[in-house]
Amino acid sequence: MKNTTNAGFDTLCIRGGHTGESNRAHLTPVYATSTYTFDDMQQAIGVFKGDEKGYVYGRWGNPTITEAEEKIALLEAYKLKNSSGEPLQLKALLHSSGMSAIATMILSNIKSGQRIITHHSLYGGTHELLEKVLPGLGIDAVIVDFHDVNKVEDALKTDNNIALMYLETPANPTLQCIDLEALSTLGKSFGLTVCVDNTFATPYLQQPFKYDVDFVMHSTTKFLNGHGTAIGGVVVGRDIAKMNGIVTKTHRLMGGNSNAFDAFLLTNGLRTFGLRMERHCSNAAAVASFLAGHSAVSKVNYLGLSSHPDHKIAMRQMKNGGAMLSFELKGGFDAGVSFMNKLQMCTNAVSLGTCDTLVSHPASTTHMGVSREQRLVFHITDGLIRMSVGMENLEDIINDLEQAIT
Ligand SMILES: Cc1ncc(COP(=O)(O)O)c(C=O)c1O
Repeated sequence: MKNTTNAGFDTLCIRGGHTGESNRAHLTPVYATSTYTFDDMQQAIGVFKGDEKGYVYGRWGNPTITEAEEKIALLEAYKLKNSSGEPLQLKALLHSSGMSAIATMILSNIKSGQRIITHHSLYGGTHELLEKVLPGLGIDAVIVDFHDVNKVEDALKTDNNIALMYLETPANPTLQCIDLEALSTLGKSFGLTVCVDNTFATPYLQQPFKYDVDFVMHSTTKFLNGHGTAIGGVVVGRDIAKMNGIVTKTHRLMGGNSNAFDAFLLTNGLRTFGLRMERHCSNAAAVASFLAGHSAVSKVNYLGLSSHPDHKIAMRQMKNGGAMLSFELKGGFDAGVSFMNKLQMCTNAVSLGTCDTLVSHPASTTHMGVSREQRLVFHITDGLIRMSVGMENLEDIINDLEQAIT
């Protein structure tokens, strides 16, 4: 697409990043090649120097990957302006997984002796990276309750080595939200690099770059791909020189590249992303209301419900309540297991963001190795069920839940 400046969100999903192809294939093909050829040495030198556009080696780039990267950058920047009032330009780097994207972002922004300030409700893998891997490199995490901005400020005042603020909102399992604007403003006033994992919300619901953050990361495995066909991740940044510099260096040298087939699947999924999100979210809102009125359910965690403690923050920074929810069955652990066993249509699987509804019972699966006391600290109660609401006909989802609950 030649001019994306005034294009709508769905148009960018479909056409953004697509530049045409030398054999006039309608869709950008899967460039299954590890390396690229040169016509002559002049061209080779031009490409190596960066004076001429072109690809050199598959770990450094691939046209199928470029299309997915440019589409995601356009979606995160949709309708946003830079400080001069011009359309915001972002750069995205596709990775082999969400974890790889997070690792690249952290390792290219922080060095030994510096610290990361973050909060409790992070994706488990990110939490483990901060607890079990980065301390070995001399990078420690300071964990603070990000609901209390004053506490964050106090922590920043007492520790000059904090260099990076790591945010994730909304987050598992009760969809806690933190205030992106307040936290980013605070982080920036202390000169921190501010980054956000936007996997749960996606750029359809929330654009963290609106609040001047430096980086956004995604597990593209989830809603961006949308069909559960590939693991992937992306780092998106606003400082293009930094993205082309140390972030690209880290990405290439740590070998975090994606591959052409996964990128093709991602691009194909992104073409219907806006439409998919509309249906995911409207179904989730209706499922949440159904569950909230059910006598066997003691609690529903859905950001679109005014009963959610973070409803107000969510409605300020998100377009709507989203597609994720969790709920507590009054019957506890046994009711959770029985519910899962009775499901006839919804899929019993971890992960999220696929077009089919995914349901899981953390107490008996993902968190079975965590003590009950520890689980309860993170609100993972015995009867908690997590749902990534899919795009099936609403009545089919509700009928399945109804028959499984009773
Ligand atoms: C919020 C969030 N961030 C990051 C990740 C890691 O992504 P991946 O599994 O693609 O490495 C996940 C995976 O579930 C996630 O839910």
